[in-house]
Amino acid sequence: MKDLRDKVAVITGAGSGIGRGTALALADAGMDVVIADIDESNATLVAAEIEALGRRALVVPTDVTDRAAVETLADKSYSEFGAVHVLHNNAGVAIFLPLEAMSDADWDFQLGPNLRGVINGLQAFLPRLKAQDGEKHIVNTASMAGMWAPAGLGAYAATKFAVVAISEALRTELAVHNIGVSVLCPGIVATNLMMTTLEHRPSGGADMQMLDLDPNSAGVILPEDVGRRVRLAVERGDLYIFTHPDYKGITEMRFNAILAAFDQAKADG
Ligand SMILES: NC(=O)c1ccc[n+]([C@@H]2O[C@H](COP(=O)([O-])OP(=O)(O)OC[C@H]3O[C@@H](n4cnc5c(N)ncnc54)[C@H](O)[C@@H]3O)[C@@H](O)[C@H]2O)c1
Repeated sequence: MKDLRDKVAVITGAGSGIGRGTALALADAGMDVVIADIDESNATLVAAEIEALGRRALVVPTDVTDRAAVETLADKSYSEFGAVHVLHNNAGVAIFLPLEAMSDADWDFQLGPNLRGVINGLQAFLPRLKAQDGEKHIVNTASMAGMWAPAGLGAYAATKFAVVAISEALRTELAVHNIGVSVLCPGIVATNLMMTTLEHRPSGGADMQMLDLDPNSAGVILPEDVGRRVRLAVERGDLYIFTHPDYKGITEMRFNAILAAFDQAKADG
């Protein structure tokens, strides 16, 4: 989508972190933005930042795990702006625990926004996007943990591998409808992800390990940098959006192990 000016973006989880960074980058490119977040007060602060950039913002308090709430988000977005050109399914949480320590409640909580939230976004918006003329684009937030599953992040990675799978299939399915698809796979970004998770996880976070998301730590980038990369990818129509070129080696290691297993299969006859 080459020209973003005067178009409309809907971003879930836009009250903080990567969603906020993307909202600001897209507003800077001339887009109006619908800020959907479970946290209305943060969403309202981001709306003020969008308006300060001279663009319109609409806050729609939304729990992305609630299908009816996401339908309402779509209704309100279309009734306010008449069209949606970029949908960014981004809201998420991250439980950092070994798989054997995950309770059923933890699994539901982890799958909720990260996977069901993306599905709800697609179910609510796709029919309307397909019916709408012109270029459209969907961005789904996965993670580097959608490319490789480190210990302690198995459940989180399960949701993010799923988001990569959905995005890859969707890109092929939607090409004929003039809808581009990107999957965002950031490395470590300085956001409130751990705090948001502790706040909403039913059992809190006393047993949880913490990812170091301090902006001063090595390799941690700012959400505004991620937003800039999302904007570029939407403009170019890229499928994969990576933010940490240094992580290429990790992906190579995983793919090399897979390729070696094929060679082994051939050798085994
Ligand atoms: N921070 C990182 O290092 C990192 C790396 C890779 C991927 N990600 C992914 O980026 C996305 C955004 O996370 P972030 O790091 O910006 O964290 P964040 O906590 O700063 O922002 C996430 C936002 O999502 C909202 N949210 C949470 N549950 C929700 C729900 N059920 N419905 C609606 N909104 C909800 C929160 O209120 C918050 O405003 C997530 O999908 C996360 O998995 C983050």
